[in-house]
Amino acid sequence: MPLSLSRRGLTAPASPIRRLMPYADAARARGVHVHHLNIGQPDLPTPEAFINGYRDYAGPVLAYSPSQGLASYREALAVYYNTLDTAAGGRAIDADDILVTTGGSEALLFTIAAACDPGDAILVAEPYYTNYRGFAHMLGVDVVPVPTFLKEDFAVSAQRLRDACTPRTRAFVLPSPGNPTGAVLAYDELVALGQVCVDHDLFFVVDEVYREFVYLDGRHTAASVLSVPGLDSHAVVIDSVSKRYSACGARVGCLVTRNRELYAATLKFAQARLSPPTVDQLAAHAALSTPRAWMEEAVAEYRKRRDVLVAALNAIDGVFAPCPAGAFYLVADLPVDDAEAFCVFLLSEFELDGETVMFAPAEGFYATPGAGRNQVRIAYVLAADKLRRAVRILAAGLAAWRDR
Ligand SMILES: Cc1ncc(COP(=O)(O)O)c(C=O)c1O
Repeated sequence: MPLSLSRRGLTAPASPIRRLMPYADAARARGVHVHHLNIGQPDLPTPEAFINGYRDYAGPVLAYSPSQGLASYREALAVYYNTLDTAAGGRAIDADDILVTTGGSEALLFTIAAACDPGDAILVAEPYYTNYRGFAHMLGVDVVPVPTFLKEDFAVSAQRLRDACTPRTRAFVLPSPGNPTGAVLAYDELVALGQVCVDHDLFFVVDEVYREFVYLDGRHTAASVLSVPGLDSHAVVIDSVSKRYSACGARVGCLVTRNRELYAATLKFAQARLSPPTVDQLAAHAALSTPRAWMEEAVAEYRKRRDVLVAALNAIDGVFAPCPAGAFYLVADLPVDDAEAFCVFLLSEFELDGETVMFAPAEGFYATPGAGRNQVRIAYVLAADKLRRAVRILAAGLAAWRDR
């Protein structure tokens, strides 16, 4: 008799980003090259300062760090946050507002756990980063979508947020710049959404892991929720080195909040897991000295890719892709009624000169039944010539799908 599992374990949602991996593995086993545009794994080299941070480690013992992270790293991070326009938002950020975590992922888990009891709900802007649902599910917390629409450039309406609030709602969680949409919240939008959070006593959790990836002229970073006045008790920033420094394997993130009670609760969770990775924190600290030119080059490269991708996609009959202002994702409408079946077809029944392409079906980024069925999320984490090639494969795949 097999041991029984928890309902929570049995019903945990599979990641729509990775779910089709077995089809990609099978394609590779047949000798087909798969262009992976399904996952946000940046391909740019990690900055030298970060790598050297590992090389320079000389300690005889790989010790735990403090549960909240190394003091020296948190102090350096405070300096970084205070270079954003956070002064307008209230008192300066100090090291005690920052809890270092094992990736932004753990910061999300701790924040939702500290804000919500089982049976509570978080609101998310839909389409949403799917792991919000994964973490909420682990904690017995419901995810309630606030819809946004491709034809409105995925703008988040404060009125729709207000309409979605119930007495069970504890937090509003969204990324800016967005995954999967690439949408970037303007300062005024943060103010309007923040007001709803204040009116309804919600934590306003803004996942800013793509902060530097903005393609708006004259801006180096997306507006931060830390810069909005009046949100000291409500605002929580989720952050990570994964995307900023092309360092997903480093597993270093943090949460930042001026709310002392929320911080104290997350610290207790952090103490239970003892420590974030020590050497990775030292390397992430060293990475703070990365020259601005590195970031500017990285952003220019992603911007070029976005432009190539958007133009190539919109040149295909029946495909529509908006031109997102940030991150390195977009959601595109395809002329198919079941994008997941089409993605499987691309991997298992189609190839162009020995190559095919993998996208993430967008339906898994929606909680509203049926929403996003004709959409895919595309991560532009390959060089421009590979993106052009991938879009040619898509165009040929769409023709083959129509004729099958
Ligand atoms: C919006 C968003 N938040 C958080 C994360 C978590 O990243 P990590 O745990 O690598 O810091 C990701 C990763 O893709 C993301 O896209």
